[in-house]
Amino acid sequence: MDEVTRRLQREAERIASKHPVPEFYIRFKAPIALARKLFFSHPAVLRMRRTVEPLLQEDLGHGIFHTTRVSMDTAALIFIEVEPDGMSFRRTERLMMLGLFAGLLHDIRRSEERHAEAGAMEAEKLLLDFHLSRNEVECICEAIRNHEAFTAPTPCTRPWFQLVSDCLYDADKFRWGSDTFTHTLWHMANHQGLSPQELLARFPWGISGTFRIAGTFRTATGRQFGPEIIETGIEIGKEIYRYLYKHFKEDKNDE
Ligand SMILES: [Fe+2]
Ligand SMILES: [Fe+2]
Repeated sequence: MDEVTRRLQREAERIASKHPVPEFYIRFKAPIALARKLFFSHPAVLRMRRTVEPLLQEDLGHGIFHTTRVSMDTAALIFIEVEPDGMSFRRTERLMMLGLFAGLLHDIRRSEERHAEAGAMEAEKLLLDFHLSRNEVECICEAIRNHEAFTAPTPCTRPWFQLVSDCLYDADKFRWGSDTFTHTLWHMANHQGLSPQELLARFPWGISGTFRIAGTFRTATGRQFGPEIIETGIEIGKEIYRYLYKHFKEDKNDE
């Protein structure tokens, strides 16, 4: 990443750190901690992390940072969604593991046109090396296929497939909150070689997409807590926009 972009990313992180943590990350500390523990200690998840890391594209802002956060939030959402049903811990943990796998694999073909479909096909091959049932592999692949924003998802063939699919979608879209402005934006700007002035020009368009995502959450938990995550991101984004405008407006006027 070039020096100017890196410096701006640091400034964005400073701005973001002044904003309150969204309620989801406060209220659900215990499920998030459990998801985190599985992510960093479950032998199959550790092996999957080693498998996907070389396939991820950090330069597009969808590398290990994004994937880790999506994975852990997918697993946490699964726990939260099934908790009222009184599901056994063993079964819950297994579904959380499928969620972690789906999160790790969902963007492995991010640079391709239909990356959700391409990712699902690649995931199916990789999952053959893991001790999963045919249904479990299908569950993960259906979730990956359905994770793209602003496209109609295909209804899943079983309720627990649907659960993993909806949780992956919501966890991925939670990233349209502060992560967009502290992480993804700068990697994309760097990758596309955008100057701060070019970034300023595109900013309002970017924020309008973020507004639209708030109405697309699929789980009850996502619908309840997702919009606040997005609103927090938008507030951070507006402040970053003002910062860029203040510091780069002269150059902008010279264009
Ligand atoms: Fe994706
Ligand atoms: Fe993603």
